[in-house]
Amino acid sequence: MPIDVPAQVVANRRLSDDYNVLTLDAPTIAAAARPGQFVMLKAGVGLDPLLRRPFSVFEVLRDRTTAAIAITILSKRIGPSTRLIYDAEPGRRIDCLGPLGRPFALVQPPSDAWMIAGGVGLAPFATLAEALRARGVKTTLFYGARRAAELFHLDTFRALGVELVLTTEDGSLGERGRIVAPLDRRLAARSPDAPLMLYACGPEGMLAATARTAIRHGRPCQVSVERIMGCGLGGCYSCVIPMRSDDGGTHHARACIAGPVLQGDQIVWD
Ligand SMILES: Cc1cc2nc3c(=O)[nH]c(=O)nc-3n(C[C@H](O)[C@H](O)[C@H](O)COP(=O)(O)OP(=O)(O)OC[C@H]3O[C@@H](n4cnc5c(N)ncnc54)[C@H](O)[C@@H]3O)c2cc1C
Ligand code: FES
Repeated sequence: MPIDVPAQVVANRRLSDDYNVLTLDAPTIAAAARPGQFVMLKAGVGLDPLLRRPFSVFEVLRDRTTAAIAITILSKRIGPSTRLIYDAEPGRRIDCLGPLGRPFALVQPPSDAWMIAGGVGLAPFATLAEALRARGVKTTLFYGARRAAELFHLDTFRALGVELVLTTEDGSLGERGRIVAPLDRRLAARSPDAPLMLYACGPEGMLAATARTAIRHGRPCQVSVERIMGCGLGGCYSCVIPMRSDDGGTHHARACIAGPVLQGDQIVWD
């Protein structure tokens, strides 16, 4: 059951002019959250912005006894709510509803896991990497951004033993170009007999390209989709996404309750 708490801002670390990591004192949500789930945050106190906005749980912070004490949010400033989140000072309270949505399905050895992140699409992968590594799954992060300064928390993933494959559009770190290019090459080089699960999160164009690449190589791919979400609870239908039906037709699913994690080959991308 999701819970709604007035979570206190414990810290706000600005990573760049647009990105920040907000720490929220929400132990009950932290304890219940599974990799890929999200929270709905009411960033302002008044009517503007009126609606809450969805954010992946980036990290679950624990105390010395390993009890979950807080969550963090990796936010990219693009409008009114994310501006308020960027500016939030410690001590402020932000209404936080969660955890919501269907999480990623975790694989275990001998399967490997490849996570593919574009920009702020990195957000669900810190908790996923932690859960996969705890199971002993060999895990790789393919992470693309516009420039080196927008590739965040690389040490977090290295410390977990995650292999990194990086791309930047300007070539300032890793390979120049889009992240799907090295993904495609690595898939082509991998033995079809070696089990593998792909997990993807990022802008819709990147997700579509990743899902198509996975299909071409005959690999399963779980994608976390970004839709406009008015309620996060299945009530408003603002988040519908076209999906393939078993009878060959299509239907619309509510991404907030059927997802945000969906099978890439079941989504109608065009
Ligand atoms: C399940 C889920 C998890 C998310 N996790 C994160 C996260 O961890 N970190 C993060 O920074 N963002 C995340 N997002 C996106 C985030 O919800 C939006 O950036 C946020 O709602 C923008 O709010 P705003 O008031 O700042 O801007 P708005 O004024 O609401 O939006 C600015 C512009 O972006 C467009 N937009 C807003 N939301 C979306 C969306 N979901 N998909 C496509 N276009 C959109 C709007 O149409 C508008 O043009 C997530 C979205 C979903 C659905
Ligand atoms: S966000 Fe309201 S139905 Fe999905």
